[in-house]
Amino acid sequence: MSVKTSPQSRARPRAATEHPSGDPRFSLIDRTLKRFSFQQDALIEVLHTAQEAFGFLSDDLLIYVAHQLKLPLSWVYGVATFYHFFTLTPQGQHNCIVCMGTACYVKRAAEIVAALQQEYQITAGETTADGRLSVSTARCLGSCGLAPVLVLDGEVLARETPESALERVRQHLAEHAGGAKPETNGAGVRERNGIESNGGIHEPI
Ligand code: FES
Repeated sequence: MSVKTSPQSRARPRAATEHPSGDPRFSLIDRTLKRFSFQQDALIEVLHTAQEAFGFLSDDLLIYVAHQLKLPLSWVYGVATFYHFFTLTPQGQHNCIVCMGTACYVKRAAEIVAALQQEYQITAGETTADGRLSVSTARCLGSCGLAPVLVLDGEVLARETPESALERVRQHLAEHAGGAKPETNGAGVRERNGIESNGGIHEPI
């Protein structure tokens, strides 16, 4: 399956307006818009920047991006909800994504989700009451040979069991109790032991 990022591939003229809030984070989005000359095909890049700047894609952000790229809001919303990497709700301080694609599912991914849900008293897609951890699922993270796969704050964890996954999350939260998030690469994803991930920017199987 292929997904087009815009109904038209040609560049569009620059939008004239800037966000009226004056929030400096919008200047990061504006910079990306300028870097790509306001081309509609840069939609995913712009959404990436918006999410990195704000943590999630609010309605206001989607409207702003749609306006600046002169795209229908429905189109921007469709792209933002199609890709697992994007989130439309505020996330916790730490983020754990469990792949529930076929390869991972048959290797106990559902049990990993259940273990996390029981430990942190949330269901997949939710954030703990203290805002420390968000748990979500994805259909396929594009690393099926490493199943079951988790992405914990951008770090790809491969071939975990429910027990080992739970322990990894516990350790991670303990190590970062001060609140600092580990650094990621430019795509928001760290590589570990030669494992690389596209952070869920993929086409679902
Ligand atoms: S099914 Fe999990 S990485 Fe593909």
